[in-house]
Amino acid sequence: MLIKYVGSDLVDQEVAIQWWVAHTRSSGKVVFINLRDGSGFMQCVGEAQFLGDEKFEELKSLNIESSVELQGVVSKHPKKDEYELQIRSFIVYQASSDYPLGQKEHNPDFLFDNRHLYLRSKSQWAIQRVRDTIIHATYDWMRDHDFVKIDAPIFTPNACEGTTELYEVEHVNGEKMYLSQSGQLYLEPAIAAHGRVYDFGPTFRAEKSKTRRHLNEFWMMDAEVAFIQQEENMHLQEQLMFYIIQEVLHKNRKELEILERPIEKLEAIQLPFKRVMYKDRVDELISMGFDVKQGEDIGSDVEMQYMEKVEQPIFVTNFPKSFKAFYFKEDLQNPGTVLGADLLAPEGCGEIIGGGTREDNYDKLLAAIKEHNLDPEVFNWYLDTRKYGSVPHAGFGYGLERIVRWMCGVHHIRETIPFPRYANRIRP
Ligand code: 4AD
Repeated sequence: MLIKYVGSDLVDQEVAIQWWVAHTRSSGKVVFINLRDGSGFMQCVGEAQFLGDEKFEELKSLNIESSVELQGVVSKHPKKDEYELQIRSFIVYQASSDYPLGQKEHNPDFLFDNRHLYLRSKSQWAIQRVRDTIIHATYDWMRDHDFVKIDAPIFTPNACEGTTELYEVEHVNGEKMYLSQSGQLYLEPAIAAHGRVYDFGPTFRAEKSKTRRHLNEFWMMDAEVAFIQQEENMHLQEQLMFYIIQEVLHKNRKELEILERPIEKLEAIQLPFKRVMYKDRVDELISMGFDVKQGEDIGSDVEMQYMEKVEQPIFVTNFPKSFKAFYFKEDLQNPGTVLGADLLAPEGCGEIIGGGTREDNYDKLLAAIKEHNLDPEVFNWYLDTRKYGSVPHAGFGYGLERIVRWMCGVHHIRETIPFPRYANRIRP
């Protein structure tokens, strides 16, 4: 029996459940134990008159994070809209002592050194459940919109997003290979088989950034669609994001409350999201007093500060070609810029999706590979997609942890993934 299934139909019935002790409090001959089982939290009441003095003392002396099975009768809480368990007997699986994460405040390093335990805390429990909702919402939405899941490899012979942030590994036969930065290059061939495809998996960036939104290992969902271009690409992204937000609001009220996340900010998100060209955005940032220049990358700090001030997500389009990876198609209406867009989230979150229209012309793509100082030899297989039935196409990739961070309103991205890997941490 899971706590989430305890309801009015079980009142006065006997149930037996295996749980962990989250909190205890006693007063005279009554002990109140707050238990958690992963599906929720529940108050259980042990009384000496039902348990006998010896068992009552044993129950009372249980420390937090002891694992137990409690048998008892379900009752309605006298005042709240909750159910309680009136304990009649119990079994202790393991009596825990000196649990290192007490009720007091700990510093983040200590908490993340103990991430294997910290995952049990209420806030971290809530965050992982929101993450789970986002993952499922994504799968549901993709399937409902005719996407086929294609699993991209993690070991790759070539870079996707430039060579500066690649993790290099040696294959068993001595060849060099890299951990995937994005599955995109593997989805592009797959559109010729399936039309609309997506992947979802871990990706790796060897970047040294120590920001609140960078990880070295994070989960990306890449989507790729044949015969669409910039506007349809952005339309798909905003529809997907809007669906994810509605699902989180619908399924995770309790979790968002635990996180003290103001839900009205998520409820206020509206379609369509605004589209702004990079050059207009830079002008706006300059007029607001930010230290940015046309033709230069907008730093992570500026982006986050700016996104503190806005309430809706924004697509920033038409970045200068020089900022972006080799595969972007140039916008011939705005030469020198690409048909690409980053989706920025409000509340200081910044970029959550990167996407764009792909160069579908063989010669132009080959020239771009060379311009980026990449070895065309290792891209031969990828270039084949532009030789045999090349089509206009576009796609995007979202960073799961960035979306979890936004939905949950948490300060640092390390809280959004079960076992984070970032510049200062690879353990536990
Ligand atoms: O903008 P990026 O680099 O785009 C790509 O990799 C494309 N190949 C995706 C595609 O078009 N299929 O990364 C996509 C997203 C970013 O918007 C961000 O949300 C996330 O991945 N991301 C990171 N998340 C956490 N830590 C990092 N170091 C990240 N780098 C990118």
